[in-house]
Formats: sequence, C-alpha cells, structure tokens
Amino acid sequence: MNEHKPDELRDHVYDGIEEYDNKLPNWWLFILYGSIVFAVGYWLVFHTFSIVDLPSARYDKEMVKASEEQLARMSKQGLTDESLALMAAIPAQVEEGRQLYATYCVVCHADRGQGLVGPNLTDGFWIHGGRPLDIHRVVTDGVLSKGMAAWGRQLGPTRVQKVVAYVLTLKGTEVPGKAPEGVPEAAAAPPTAAPATAGATGNG
Ligand code: HEC
Repeated sequence: MNEHKPDELRDHVYDGIEEYDNKLPNWWLFILYGSIVFAVGYWLVFHTFSIVDLPSARYDKEMVKASEEQLARMSKQGLTDESLALMAAIPAQVEEGRQLYATYCVVCHADRGQGLVGPNLTDGFWIHGGRPLDIHRVVTDGVLSKGMAAWGRQLGPTRVQKVVAYVLTLKGTEVPGKAPEGVPEAAAAPPTAAPATAGATGNG
C-alpha cells in the first residue's frame, strides 16, 4: 500500500540535526508558482499597462465624482462660498481655471499668483476680502479705477467661477512676490456679507 520510497537522509549533520531529501509537496509548489504568476499579472495589469485603476486612484475618482454631484446639487441654489470651495477641489475645474488664469491674469498677477501690477494672491492679505464670494465679486465686477477689469463680462459666469476656483488653490501658498496689500483675511469682510450687496470693505 505504501509506495513511498524510504525517506532518504542527506549526508550533512548540523548540530546533530539531520535533513530528509524529500520533494516539496505539490500543493505547496502550486501556491508558490501560482503567486509568482499572479504577481507578474498583477504588476502588468495595475502598474505597467494601467488597465485597471489602483484602489487609491479609484477612490480619488469616486471622491471627484461625489464632489461633482454635490456641486451640481449646490449650484441649483446659487453661488456660495461652499460651492466655490468645492469647485476648487475638483481637478478638472481647477485645470480649466488654470488655463484661463494663464491667458487672462498672468500679466498682472504673475505666473504663480505672486503679483506684479495686481496684488499678490498667495499671501493672507486681501484688499477686497479673501472669502470665495469676495474673490468672485472682485473678478466679476473688477476694480476699474485700479486697472482690474470686470471679467464677468468678458469671460461669462461659468469661466469666472473656474478661474476663481483656481485662485482659491493659490490662496495661502505664500509665494514671495509683491508685498502684502489690504488686510489679513480673518479681519476682512464681515462673515455674513450678502453676495451682491456687500460693500462693507473700504474700496482702495
Ligand atoms: C491689467 C492688470 C490685471 C489683470 C489682467 C488682472 N488683474 Fe486682478 N487685479 C489687478 C489690480 C491692479 C488689482 C488691485 C485692485 C485694487 O487695488 O483694488 C487686482 C485685484 C484682483 C483681486 C483682488 C485681490 C485682493 O487683494 O483683494 C483678485 C482676486 C484678482 N485681481 C483676480 C484676477 C483674476 C482672476 C484675473 C484674470 C481673470 C485678473 N485678476 C486679471 C490687475 C489685474
């Protein structure tokens, strides 16, 4: 019944320990080679050819999708600080805003928002308030007497929102450039200012 060859002993002895010369069991080898094949396949699918997203990328996509859905719901209720801030968290929107900024705003606010003719947008100081709606209002209506155009007319509401979303991503990056102008954000514009009528901050 037992067709096993008698176990062969290998001829070395270490500290009195001897070793059989047995074959590794097939199930064990199957797992070993199986894992190697799986690892190669996994590497090709996930890393080399990126056929399937890694879990982290899938998570990011889901978050962006959720933000977009939330933004769609929120935009029905009009523009708010929150909806603009949410927009600034959606890469596609910010990217469009970045392109608009590069086209229309760099000349005066410089490539990283550090300011040139226009004020530094990366420091914590704002002439017209640093809340999303404040920024949106300045960009839409401009400060004509100071050379800042009313971009609302030129770009239209959608593109203004995108460029504002991009400006929000520059906020707080503290790029050395034009000296601070205005007041620190916390002290600026009263928190309850209504979007259209807020004129509380001194104009220049
Ligand atoms: C021709 C130059 C010029 C261009 C182009 C320009 N700006 Fe300005 N911007 C200014 C100046 C000057 C001010 C300061 C206004 C003031 O002193 O009240 C300003 C102010 C601002 C402010 C308010 C800053 C604060 O401290 O409150 C924001 C935000 C802003 N610009 C965004 C933009 C965006 C976005 C664009 C592109 C769509 C743009 N600007 C294009 C000149 C410009």
